[in-house]
Amino acid sequence: MADEDGAPLGFVILHGGVIEHLYVQPEHQRRGVGAALLARARAVSPGGLALWCFVRNRPARAFYAREGFIEAEETDGSGNEEREPDVRLVWRA
Ligand SMILES: CC(C)(COP(=O)(O)OP(=O)(O)OC[C@H]1O[C@@H](n2cnc3c(N)ncnc32)[C@H](O)[C@@H]1OP(=O)(O)O)[C@@H](O)C(=O)NCCC(=O)NCCS
Repeated sequence: MADEDGAPLGFVILHGGVIEHLYVQPEHQRRGVGAALLARARAVSPGGLALWCFVRNRPARAFYAREGFIEAEETDGSGNEEREPDVRLVWRA
């Protein structure tokens, strides 16, 4: 969790090198909070990180690309609950 004077700004949930959630409150986006949360995830999992992201989530894909993630695999969404095309993003140290 990232906070400013005790007020929550965002959080990351990491499970065995997989980012399950990364979220920054809209009013605090584009101020480096996401990058700071990702830095913590990298410290916990220095060998690498992976996650799934919806293809249509262009802001997040731009964010992860800037943070050195590569798009390793894309699906048509038939295998996920939302039936929404997604992409697996991977970062290796
Ligand atoms: C993706 C997310 C975590 C990024 O957090 P953040 O705190 O805004 O990220 P940072 O401030 O560290 O980095 C900002 C950079 O990411 C990219 N970026 C972030 N939002 C963007 C947008 N709307 N459009 C284009 N690029 C964007 C840009 O490279 C940006 O740098 P710039 O502001 O200098 O152009 C945040 O947008 C978010 O919580 N989104 C909603 C939840 C979500 O989609 N989570 C990811 C699910 S896979």
